[in-house]
Amino acid sequence: MERSGVSRRTLGAQALGMAALGGAAFGLEGCENARPTDLKPKSRRFPEDFVWGVATAAFQTEGGQTADGRGPSVWDLFEKVPGHVKDGSDATVATDSYRRFQEDVDTMAAMALNAYRFSISWSRILPTGEGAVNAAGLDHYARLVDALLEKGITPYATLFHWDLPQGLQAKGGWASRDTAQRLADYAHAVVDRLGDRLKHYIVLNEAAVHAVFGHVLGEHAPGLKDIGLLGKVVHHMNLGQGLAMQALRAGTQGATVGTTMALQPCRPAGGPWAVWNRLASDGLDALWNKAWLDPLFKGSYPKDMDDLLKGVVRDGDMAVTRQRVDFLGVNYYAPAYVRLDLSSPSKIAPAQPPRGAELDAFGRHIDPSGLFEVLDRVRREYGAPRMLVTENGCSDPFGTGPAILDDRFRITYLRRHLEAVLAAREAGCDVGGYFEWTLVDNFEWDLGYTSKFGLIAMDRKTGARTPKASAAWYAALARTGGLPATP
Ligand code: FCB
Repeated sequence: MERSGVSRRTLGAQALGMAALGGAAFGLEGCENARPTDLKPKSRRFPEDFVWGVATAAFQTEGGQTADGRGPSVWDLFEKVPGHVKDGSDATVATDSYRRFQEDVDTMAAMALNAYRFSISWSRILPTGEGAVNAAGLDHYARLVDALLEKGITPYATLFHWDLPQGLQAKGGWASRDTAQRLADYAHAVVDRLGDRLKHYIVLNEAAVHAVFGHVLGEHAPGLKDIGLLGKVVHHMNLGQGLAMQALRAGTQGATVGTTMALQPCRPAGGPWAVWNRLASDGLDALWNKAWLDPLFKGSYPKDMDDLLKGVVRDGDMAVTRQRVDFLGVNYYAPAYVRLDLSSPSKIAPAQPPRGAELDAFGRHIDPSGLFEVLDRVRREYGAPRMLVTENGCSDPFGTGPAILDDRFRITYLRRHLEAVLAAREAGCDVGGYFEWTLVDNFEWDLGYTSKFGLIAMDRKTGARTPKASAAWYAALARTGGLPATP
């Protein structure tokens, strides 16, 4: 989110209108809580039944935007507006996975992966988001699921990875309470057709990112900048998630139901205003982490959300948001550094990572200890659920040039974060799997094709795929379960 001056997705709080924090300070200082970033697990071995996968999302990969009766999503409209996507590109072809999925499945099988996380495009199943089911859309996912199962790869389907049908957006989108019920209807349609073979469901992907970047900062679809919508969007997503979980469980025997959150440790800047910065950082933590964890695991919202949620939550809602989960999906890329900023409506602003911190392409701190921290927090504060790391990975430096095929930096990044996973397991976290983001370089939302996260490069003219060094490294890991100590 360069345009708003905040490093994209490190901090979703430029204008959140959280409770006034008071004070009279601007904490411009960087975060001083430099600490060791790496964990040294005792064992380097993952269990036999560990889930090894890659993660993708429909809009970022499929292309085929009008194929087989698909309706438009909010991202179809958003990406066409000049200035919204950094390189002026769009996802009309993307990695063409709508047509090339068999090739990708074969590649995953050759890499010894035993799981694949993909998302279903809601507007393929219900072109306007509601009403008559489009059987041709479901047929596509039936073919994909069958292709995966045939290779012994367990499908994990995300229902909502940010691509709301435009038909629903026109009726208010997530700011409208009805959208919660529409998500449940969509979940029902999916499970009704695929539930006999598709057993693993992730209801939402990173709802915090969609809520804040799509509705407050305007950097993602639907491109709104209306802080007044935030409370409604947050609650209706939580409510819809609960209703969808109920629908999935009612629709098939033995469904494994979870959801995925973008969890980030929120770390305050130090210096003379450290106390105030701590308040700002707690405010962000409430919105970014607890506003999603608490409703699901505790049936409540953190106090800091009271103002935003005034008049939004109805009697009985919190019994719906609170659901048993078979697993929590955790996406982790970096911690958020936070300071007080009295000039911002939220009083919250991004702070610099500690001096000398190693940064990723987004300018985010590469800090595997943050992954350990969020996993261990969920264990301690939310009843130690089973967890899967459903996204983790890193981009090449941004640019329009070719992908880096000898991507040792990516191998190092993955190895260090997997050490954190091993350490978390040793600390008692029930982490049962890891999905690397992502298989093939794809359409990275507002960054278009300038950000490349793939284990496999793609020629955008021909769609031809070329594995990077990291693909072979990850395949060896999935095959052996042993994490090398270097690089
Ligand atoms: C996550 C998103 C995913 C992708 C990665 C890089 O926040 O869930 O779609 O953009 O970041």
